[in-house]
Amino acid sequence: MKGLILSGGSGRRLRPLTHTSAKQLVPIANVPILHYVVTDLVGVGITDIGIVVGDTGDEVRASVGDGSRWGATVTYIDQEEPLGLAHAVLVAQPFLDDKAFAMYLGDNMFEDSLDGVVDGFDGTAAARLLLARVDDPSSFGVADLADDGTIVGLVEKPADPPSDLALVGVYLFGPRIHEAVRAISPSARGELEITDAIQWLLDTGETVEHRVLEGWWIDTGKKDPLLECNRLVLDRLEGDQVAVDDGAEVTDSTLVGPVAVAAGARIQNSTVGPYVAVGEGCDIRGATVEYSVLMAGAQVSDLDRLTNSVLGREAEVTGTKGARVDLSLLLGDHSMVDLGKGDRWLK
Ligand code: TTP
Repeated sequence: MKGLILSGGSGRRLRPLTHTSAKQLVPIANVPILHYVVTDLVGVGITDIGIVVGDTGDEVRASVGDGSRWGATVTYIDQEEPLGLAHAVLVAQPFLDDKAFAMYLGDNMFEDSLDGVVDGFDGTAAARLLLARVDDPSSFGVADLADDGTIVGLVEKPADPPSDLALVGVYLFGPRIHEAVRAISPSARGELEITDAIQWLLDTGETVEHRVLEGWWIDTGKKDPLLECNRLVLDRLEGDQVAVDDGAEVTDSTLVGPVAVAAGARIQNSTVGPYVAVGEGCDIRGATVEYSVLMAGAQVSDLDRLTNSVLGREAEVTGTKGARVDLSLLLGDHSMVDLGKGDRWLK
């Protein structure tokens, strides 16, 4: 089976970070999301992998390379515009040929291995979907199941959901999907929707199987789920759950696990954690930081409390010594927040 990772898209829900960078490269516990995705596919024996890329293609190429680090072969597929998940399949057709393939959304993360999902799929059934029980099915694509448990339809963001089983970010397809993505028309939002292509398969009498997910699954495309994912992955750290890479410097500070500190980071007179990933070369001085992702080179100083925040690369947050400030931020790369500046100007 081949793998197809979708790593284009527009990432509107994670702006401003996605103005300058791919959302699939945001680090979770200091590792880019996309690297977990490649690891998952290789883990189930899928090593011939195509990655669909858009505007951020160069950055994705630089991060994943030829895949040899994972024992995989990676082929990059350019999608000129993010015209939908089914459009990504359309542009990937020459790579996919008529092989069965696993399509994996490049900003999704799963707790468990995909073994049970891919096991035995050879493309004889036209598709196999992964479903998860969700509390708010009306925000998802939802499966309509007959009494015998077979999928009879899919509804996108239904006002009156037929079940609580939502489609999540891994789909297996046989070759008939290529006909389906050519047959459908763009939706009201102008995209070729994968749910419409799967509905087309059902309407033409094809078999669409499914598996129900047990462990957690997160679409990291928004700030709070991204932080939740960081929390869940850091929770896997063993022992005292404090991981400090060689070359990081921690002085006169308290690290509260789970916390991960990457090489070249400097932490002074601060309390960091729980649930913080401090990226390479970050600098934290005189601050309390918790439940946050600090991307490479981010700096925080003189701040009573930074919480529930994502700081882009080289972003800088400066507080005022002694003032009690409680901040939650989503900052793009190279952003600056200086809480003391106004005061200083007034003086
Ligand atoms: P989404 O998160 O559904 O779409 P998006 O990236 O456009 O985000 P937003 O809604 O916030 O603007 O996409 C799921 C994954 O598929 C993600 O990794 C991006 C990727 N993708 C493509 O590669 N090509 C596309 O045409 C689309 C729509 C998404």
